[in-house]
Amino acid sequence: MSLFGGNNGPRYKHAAETTASYETITVEKLTPVIGAEIGGVDLSRPLGNRAVEEIHRALAEHLVIFFRDQQMTADQHLAFGRLFGDLHIHPAAPSVPGRPELMIIHTDKDSPRANGEGWHSDVSCDAEPPMGSILHIKTCPSEGGDTLFASMYAAYEALSERMQRYLEGLTAVHDGEGYRGLYANLGVKDKASYPRAEHPVVRTHPVTGRKALYVNRGFTRRIVGIPADESDGILRYLYDHAENPLFQCRFRWRPNSVAFWDNRCVQHRAMWDYWPQTRSGYRVTVKGDRPV
Ligand code: SIN
Repeated sequence: MSLFGGNNGPRYKHAAETTASYETITVEKLTPVIGAEIGGVDLSRPLGNRAVEEIHRALAEHLVIFFRDQQMTADQHLAFGRLFGDLHIHPAAPSVPGRPELMIIHTDKDSPRANGEGWHSDVSCDAEPPMGSILHIKTCPSEGGDTLFASMYAAYEALSERMQRYLEGLTAVHDGEGYRGLYANLGVKDKASYPRAEHPVVRTHPVTGRKALYVNRGFTRRIVGIPADESDGILRYLYDHAENPLFQCRFRWRPNSVAFWDNRCVQHRAMWDYWPQTRSGYRVTVKGDRPV
């Protein structure tokens, strides 16, 4: 194939569904495939049932949703997360003292690394990985520090039928050992062990019923039951495929923006292109189910 693609139209033909309009929020898509900016809502105030339902629906339809100009306190951020389920405590990352569910996201000129710099789905090494993550960025550079999000529905749907059939029923090992030493510079002591779990390579989303590719460079180590060289080759292909910009949106942060992504069907990666500036905020993560 030439560098410019084939002659049969786009690699992925997204079929957008027509959905009912929203009553309590506004929804503006970033791309036809993934991402929408939500307006008309103040996350620092108690939300009515209808607004919560519509935010949930917008997440299911757009996979990652964004809110601007949200002046949430830590407690309001935690309360917003609890509207969607019990909160998850990260197995390794630092949190705010006394608030283990409030993960610190902070990078400055002295940081040895930035959080989330490779493509991943949050903590997929857990037996029940988080359903969603809600990131509130308070300080960000004037430019740079974007986050990229990719639809794993689109990645799955764009595979050939033959590849989809090949992957059917396969499982893969996701390993959290990569956390070892990762936060040492922030005074985090290593645990004796980190989570490790086996998940289907293709999972079915419990809300939408759609199939999503569920392997990621951050945590997936090998596909079970096939030779190691075959597993390496297939995973390499799937990672390259999943990173096609056709499946992505890219979010430009401003102070007090919030992103809420669905880890069951989205991978993300944070850009560290703003050194020596500071980017800082908090993440609240909502517990999820065992992938099936
Ligand atoms: C993360 O992986 O949660 C970090 C994402 C970001 O900082 O944009």
